[in-house]
Amino acid sequence: MKDVYEDRIICNCKKVYYSDIVKALQQGSNLSEIEEEFKRVQEITKASTGCGGCHDKVLDVISEILNP
Ligand code: FES
Repeated sequence: MKDVYEDRIICNCKKVYYSDIVKALQQGSNLSEIEEEFKRVQEITKASTGCGGCHDKVLDVISEILNP
C-alpha cells in the first residue's frame, strides 16, 4: 500500500480527501473485491454518498491505492 501520495479532494460533496480514503483502506483492508472496499470506504468516509458524481473517481483511487 502506498504511503507517499499527493493529497487531493476526491469527493466534493462530503469533503473527502485522498488521505481519508488511504486511512479507510488501512483499517483492515483485506484486498478483496473492489466493490466491497468501495462500500467500506463509503461507510467510513461518506465519500460518494451525496450526488454520486465521484463514484468512478473513488473506485479509481481505491484500485490505485490497492494496486500501486
Ligand atoms: S462529489 Fe462525491 S458524492 Fe458528490
